[in-house]
Formats: sequence, C-alpha cells, structure tokens
Amino acid sequence: MIKKISYKDFEEYVSDPHKFMIKFSKENQIVKIENYLIVLDPNLFNLLLNENLSCEARVSELQNHPSIEDWPMYVDGDRHKKIRKVSQEYAIKTISVLKNNSKEIWKEVESNKINSLTVESFILSIYEIVFDIPRGVLFSLKEDIKKLHTSVLTRSLKDLNYHWEKIKNKVTAKNLSLALFMISDTIPSIKHTVGCCLASPSKNLTHNLIKEIVSKNPPFRHLSRISKRPFRFKNIEIPENRVLIFPIFSPFNVKIKEIEFGYGEHKCIGVATLTHFVRSIFENGEKENLYEYHKLESSSLSMIDKF
Ligand code: HEM
Repeated sequence: MIKKISYKDFEEYVSDPHKFMIKFSKENQIVKIENYLIVLDPNLFNLLLNENLSCEARVSELQNHPSIEDWPMYVDGDRHKKIRKVSQEYAIKTISVLKNNSKEIWKEVESNKINSLTVESFILSIYEIVFDIPRGVLFSLKEDIKKLHTSVLTRSLKDLNYHWEKIKNKVTAKNLSLALFMISDTIPSIKHTVGCCLASPSKNLTHNLIKEIVSKNPPFRHLSRISKRPFRFKNIEIPENRVLIFPIFSPFNVKIKEIEFGYGEHKCIGVATLTHFVRSIFENGEKENLYEYHKLESSSLSMIDKF
C-alpha cells in the first residue's frame, strides 16, 4: 500500500527535502499526493528504464509543437533515439568550437569579468557558431528564448505560440527546435556551475573537479516520468497517468553515480560539453566574487524547478 502524504509534508519536500527524507524514507519506498508518486528508495530507480514510463507525456498539451519537436528529453521511442544522436553531434561540435574560438569570442563579451551576463553572452555567441546563426541574433532574442523555455515548463501553449512565432520569424537555422533546447535548457545549468566553481578554492578546475562540484550542487532537484498504463513493479502497483518523481539530491546522488546527470536512455549527453564550457570561461575570464557574479542574475536566463 503506497502511503499518502499531506500538503504540509509536500511543502517540506520542496522547502527541506532532507528533513522530508528522514521522516519518510525509512518506512516507505514510495509516497503519494494527488497524482504524484515520490520514489524514496534508490533501489527502485530502475523504474526509469521501464517502458511503461514516458517522457513525452510530461508535455502532453504541447506534444509535437514545432518549437519542441526535437527536444530529446520530451520524446520517446525511436524518434528519441534519432534526435538524441543529432544532439550528441552538436554537443561534440560545441566542444570543437570552444577549442577553436573561445579566446576571440570572450574578447567580444561586455567585459573581461566572469559574471552572469558575460557568461551568458559567451555561451550565446558559441551556440551561434555551432548552429550557424548570424552573430548577435540570439542575443537580440534572449528574452523570447527564456520565455519560450518558461512556457514549456509551465505548459502554456498560448505563450509558447507567441514566442515561437517571434523567434522563427527572425532565425532560419537547421534544427532550430534542437538549438532552442540546447540554448534555453543548458545556459542556466552552465551558469549555475560557473557560480559554484567561483566558490571553489581550487585554482585548477579539472573536468573531474567540475563534475564533482555539480554532484555536490546539482542544479536540478529531481527527474520525472509519467506512467502510460497501470503496471506492477517489484510488487508495487503503479496506476496509470501518475507523475513519478525521482529525487537526485543527497543521499540519492551518493547511492547512484552521476544521477545528477540523469539515468538510462535519457542520460545527459552534455557532460563533457559542460566541463569544456566552464574551463573556457575560467581560462579566458577574470574571476569575480560570488556577490558580483550573481548581482546581474535577475535580467538573464535563470533556473526554474519544475516536475
Ligand atoms: C550542470 C549541467 C548539466 C546538468 C546537471 C544536466 C543534467 C541533465 C539531466 C538530469 C538530464 C536528463 C533529464 C531526464 O532524464 O529527464 C539531461 C539531459 C540532457 N542534457 Fe544535460 N545537463 C547539464 C548540461 C548539459 C549541457 C551543457 C548540454 C549540451 C551541450 C546538455 C544536453 C543534454 C541533452 C541533449 C539531454 C537530453 C538527453 C535525452 O533525452 O536523451 N546538458 N541533462
């Protein structure tokens, strides 16, 4: 029998997940509230490999919208495999653009200081080269790209249509939908990582150290999937159309290696691209203190935590 939790408990999951874990994880493998099932037992994370679970169904009302038709984390089955392969090619291309163009691109951003605006301009300029988009176009559209991303996370079709129209009338790029995914979805997590690395005392930011820093400060709190049909998993009945939430903060990211980068067929393909981005920024930019780094945050692409 899956234990039902109260709204007050659920608020605690959001505000103090560790306290919530201590309270519930000893006696419960899964707890439920409304149509949410929170998976508390890391031994059940193989559920993420289960064919009865869907990524696509998470954006039900937006499914197949042209702006997100190539967002790999919102597509299932064979189409997912195809799009994932293309996104891997672009992630590798991004690394070679970083290797060949970082120095000259960094000279063009607002200042030599590493702050959230210069980091954002740098990433946008790199993606312009990666996706063959004329220089400066992404910068001029960054508010629309941010709002398009927000409308996907908040499932607002009206806003999505509005910002998609504005963007596609200004940008003609091959794989525009995938480009918008990589731009809008990765900039906040790259900036989060740069902020965490600024706080690190280490002078030598190796790829492994950057991954360790992300593991200790995961930018996302959980993974989610939707049950497409009722099914049984390890003697647990999972009803149809439930949102399964898989927390990825400690202790989960201790028990499951690299869970902060996902698990199974949708696991992140951008880990190496991330560490190359961060190293390029620290190799070219002048370190700023954390306060200055975040001071400019409000006007840029920032984190939204959404199931
Ligand atoms: C701190 C930085 C990052 C973190 C923590 C992160 C984390 C994740 C996670 C947890 C997923 C799986 C989501 C799910 O299963 O629902 C994912 C998927 C993905 N990530 Fe990352 N990511 C980061 C940076 C990047 C970067 C820089 C890129 C690209 C250059 C990237 C590209 C992707 C792609 C394409 C997917 C979808 C894979 C698929 O659905 O098959 N990520 N990421």
